[in-house]
Amino acid sequence: MNIELLKESVEKWIDNYFKAKPEDENKNFEAMKYSLKVGGKRVRPILMILTYGMYKKDYREILPFAAALEMIHTYSLIHDDLPCMDNDDLRRGKPTNHKIYGEAVAVLAGDGLLNEAMIIMLDQCLDGSLNTIKASNIIAKASGAEGMIAGQICDILSEGIVISEEKLLYMHKNKTGQLIKAAVVCGAILGNADEDDLCYLKEYGDKLGLAFQIKDDILDVIGDVAILGKNTKGDESNNKTTFITMYGLEKCKQKCNDLTQECFEILNQITVNTKCLEEITESLLRREY
Ligand code: IPE
Ligand code: IPE
Ligand code: MG
Ligand code: MG
Ligand code: MG
Repeated sequence: MNIELLKESVEKWIDNYFKAKPEDENKNFEAMKYSLKVGGKRVRPILMILTYGMYKKDYREILPFAAALEMIHTYSLIHDDLPCMDNDDLRRGKPTNHKIYGEAVAVLAGDGLLNEAMIIMLDQCLDGSLNTIKASNIIAKASGAEGMIAGQICDILSEGIVISEEKLLYMHKNKTGQLIKAAVVCGAILGNADEDDLCYLKEYGDKLGLAFQIKDDILDVIGDVAILGKNTKGDESNNKTTFITMYGLEKCKQKCNDLTQECFEILNQITVNTKCLEEITESLLRREY
């Protein structure tokens, strides 16, 4: 599957979804669309579609789920950038949502995106299939108070203090790992993968999600702002506890390599062809943004 094409399909689906919304006098939809449209790698929807594609042919069937996940991720970024969180003014190469619309509208745009995502998934559930209900449930949990939000709270409350390795792992696995893992697992569930494959893909999603956040921490130190589309050195100025502060840069690079190898080993055990996931795993290790 051509990644660029997948990205375009997801973006087109999102565009059409918002086209059907009424013109709003207030800025709610405009602010929601702003952060969605300014760009982003679309890693989570792409992972979901690639995994689904290992089992089923027509990926268009799951575009609503892929788009909903991207909306939830985008909401998490809008809130992550707020002055009360990481206080960032650059995201996806453009001013952050609150810089354009103000803090109150940015908070509500995030809330709005989360709700729209839930509505999209619930609409899918109306077809009555167990797999769509299961996938919606997993995404809702992964983004909730025992998922992404748990990791984000841990991140914020750990600023400026020393935390255990165990807590750092918990933070990363939740704040970022949960949505990455949900992308893979839901792709598999919607594709009706068998239980063995599902087990392997859960393990793979966990490791990929962890590697993704360690790489994010690395890029915060050595990334190029123009390529990354967000400011660097923010973790240091916010006194964040990250994999970098715990292990140092070189060890983090090694950890990313090791986790990528472990991902390959897990994928090797799956009976269907996993080449597309191997390729994206490798490219996420090498990414510069
Ligand atoms: C950034 O996510 C925040 C993390 C969870 C690490 P991405 O690196 O996927 O950001 P976009 O979607 O491409 O902008
Ligand atoms: C954010 O982690 C994880 C989210 C849930 C948004 P970071 O705070 O490190 O993400 P960036 O570096 O701002 O993209
Ligand atoms: Mg953050
Ligand atoms: Mg941040
Ligand atoms: Mg970061």
